[in-house]
Amino acid sequence: MDSKTLTRTISSSDRAQDPCVLVIFGASGDLARRMLLPALYDLAYDRRLPARFAVLGFARSQWDEDEFRRVVKTGIKEFARRSIDEAVWESFSGKLRYMSGNYDDPAAHTRLSSMLDSIDSELGTAGNRLYYLAVPPTTSPTIISKLRNDKISAPVDSDSWSRIVVEKPFGRDLESARELNRLIHSQFPEESVYRIDHYLGKETVQNILVFRFANGVFEPIWNRRYIDHVQITVAESLGVGDRGGYYDQSGALRDMVQNHIMQLLALIAMEPPIAFDGRAVRNEKVKVFNALRRMEPAEVATSTARGQYAAGWIGGEEVPGYTQDAAVDSSSTETYVAMRLFIDNWRWADVPFYVRTGKRLPKRTTQIAIQFRKVPHLLFKDIVDVSDMEPTVLTIRIQPNEGISMKFLTKVPGTPTRIRPAMMDFLYGAAFLNEAPSAYETLLLDALQGDATLFTRADEVEAAWEIMTGVLDGWQQMPSAQFPNYEAGSDGPEEADRLIESDGRQWRRF
Ligand code: NDP
Ligand code: BG6
Repeated sequence: MDSKTLTRTISSSDRAQDPCVLVIFGASGDLARRMLLPALYDLAYDRRLPARFAVLGFARSQWDEDEFRRVVKTGIKEFARRSIDEAVWESFSGKLRYMSGNYDDPAAHTRLSSMLDSIDSELGTAGNRLYYLAVPPTTSPTIISKLRNDKISAPVDSDSWSRIVVEKPFGRDLESARELNRLIHSQFPEESVYRIDHYLGKETVQNILVFRFANGVFEPIWNRRYIDHVQITVAESLGVGDRGGYYDQSGALRDMVQNHIMQLLALIAMEPPIAFDGRAVRNEKVKVFNALRRMEPAEVATSTARGQYAAGWIGGEEVPGYTQDAAVDSSSTETYVAMRLFIDNWRWADVPFYVRTGKRLPKRTTQIAIQFRKVPHLLFKDIVDVSDMEPTVLTIRIQPNEGISMKFLTKVPGTPTRIRPAMMDFLYGAAFLNEAPSAYETLLLDALQGDATLFTRADEVEAAWEIMTGVLDGWQQMPSAQFPNYEAGSDGPEEADRLIESDGRQWRRF
């Protein structure tokens, strides 16, 4: 394999071929402005978009197309990887369309349908549609029902296709996720449904599979015989910002654990898939979720910890507490979750997976630490303090300082014999000169190309919800949590420390 092959990303990076209209519902929103449209511009810059392509923004905001283009351009200037190149912008903005309307208004959908027809005639987009639901989760069912009722997702001719991208969180519990799947399937076959989890578009997350399965050395020790436990940390220093309306209905478990953390866990724990394609990879992930031990309500109390941040200090700046951020008088919504999970299969029996996520923690870091077992026989116990003999830890840094490091023990030169941890470190920034595409670039391109490998499947999302709905039910049966219970800028609530310390282990430092 030459170096060119090695440096290719896993997902296809060629230009999308099929002509298409991307319809963004919620085009006036935060996700569209900060992520989707900048990512599309970056794809246009790199000539990855189809030659015959258009974006049709749909939202309630009463904008005209000039206003939409102005907002998009400002967003690109701030958030795109590439700077504005007037020639690229000219061509890209010529493909932007906007229409306003209510999501549940049949007349608006009729107008949408005729606008799509006229884009097909004008730009040769051939009836292919990619619908993107960038709206609050509660709005998605209305839009999907309208797509069905108005038949606007029906192929214009036998060669055209319609796909739908649905943002996370996909439902709010197992029952609503099932209901949403039923509704979507009444309109789109599963292979046309792209449930997005942007963590799967991150290069460092995709690299987990390459790291595990392209190197022969790790797989033989990737099991309960050699691994003591796994810690998955997704920490954010930011608070909920202006998303309080959404977040207060959601909380950290629905916002981060059910999707992003569960996906990281599945990639770390899954068996080698028989092929690198959507079906085989997702089959293995579902098996992990099915093997996750369900928690009885009593176990939820001992295996999980919740928190909500109070005012505090981060990076020398005073920051408000959650209720002030979210503009609510009081709230029982968690902004921090920690839990201990077990995967009941031969590979992982009795190996705890500790996961935690929170807002307003000391810094932003997402990392997975694989802690190996201690050596079985302490050869050096008579000459060194054994408490210094920390076990080997492999850390996959998803963000920032993207890379992988291995901490191991080494002899300090000289006499007497002393032992100290040392680090082998791989840094993406130093190893590769080319800048990685953003997660949304990768995922949008995959959806345009019809590659669903990095999207979640119906059974996968339901299996992940099954575990998390058990936790939500357990919390409901417990006495109300005493919130707030951690200061912004601290490491999280004491309950989380007690959770891991009761097993004789400790959280890794941020
Ligand atoms: P926003 O609150 O910014 O909403 C998006 C747009 O949806 C709004 O601009 C609004 O446009 C429209 N909308 C439709 N119905 C409603 C309603 N009842 N209340 C409020 N707005 C409505 O959300 P985001 O863009 O942040 O999120 C959209 C989706 O993307 C969510 O599912 C979110 O979980 C997901 N997501 C967001 C991320 C982010 O960083 N923002 C990251 C990952 C996922 P209008 O009023 O013009 O119709
Ligand atoms: C989103 C959550 O899915 O992920 C946000 O809704 C969170 O609350 C964000 O801040 C984190 O994404 P990233 O890519 O910054 O780690």
